[in-house]
Amino acid sequence: MANRTLTFSVFRFNPYDPDFGPRMQEYIVEETPRMTLFTALTLIREEMDPSLQFDFVCRSAVCGSCAMLVNGHPRLACRTRTDELPAKIVLHPLPFFRLIGDLSVDTGSWFAEMAHRVESWVHTTETFDPDAEEARMSNDQALSVYELERCIECGCCVAACATAQMRDDFLGATGLLRIARFWIDPRDQRTDADFYDVVGTDAGVFGCVGLLACHDYCPKNLPLMEQLAYLRRRVMFASLRSAVGKKERQPEEQEATR
Ligand code: SF4
Ligand code: F3S
Ligand code: FES
Repeated sequence: MANRTLTFSVFRFNPYDPDFGPRMQEYIVEETPRMTLFTALTLIREEMDPSLQFDFVCRSAVCGSCAMLVNGHPRLACRTRTDELPAKIVLHPLPFFRLIGDLSVDTGSWFAEMAHRVESWVHTTETFDPDAEEARMSNDQALSVYELERCIECGCCVAACATAQMRDDFLGATGLLRIARFWIDPRDQRTDADFYDVVGTDAGVFGCVGLLACHDYCPKNLPLMEQLAYLRRRVMFASLRSAVGKKERQPEEQEATR
């Protein structure tokens, strides 16, 4: 296929400069084989406009810093090839997060605050012993925890979620995933009631109305749909058990929270 001439229409705005108001700016780029949005943006910055702001670190879908809206959809710039797109490519920064400038947003502050809110660490009363053997867990448990640890904190799931656009305190699919990750960790000694306190709110699992755009746009294909359903079941059973004062999990509950 002959290489195309691409037209990039890029959102430009410097919120710290009153003379640099929001606008779209066009750049023309000759497509090269296997070109990604990252390489195209780098070419624009190096050869046409050094003032263009966008983020990247790893160029391999690991750091999560290059997410942006590509023709209206959240994607990683480093993993999106231009030959998957039409010749007119419209780029905006991710919504929801604080804008730094142009295509660059501050996801880090939001993720740090979210991690604090969901207490994103193993809660245990055991004293740390640097000489002790590692805590053991079964292979199945380790694989389940590892699967939920793959989030690269890119923010695509939050940017895609209409609930998050309407309420800025929503934990988002990534925050809920974080809770699910610790809930299944056998080393975490928090009770169901403790987890319920963190996530059983409108800003947590009850704010999620099952739109599932998070699942569709997660670039790491994390099992968000399954985990959100899992959390709903666990939260429901935690609240039922607290209502009837049960101490032990019932057989049907064990089945539902698996
Ligand atoms: Fe990105 Fe997926 Fe993590 Fe959301 S869950 S922040 S989309 S990697
Ligand atoms: Fe939003 Fe995903 Fe729930 S898109 S409403 S977090 S299913
Ligand atoms: Fe790291 Fe794209 S540059 S995920």
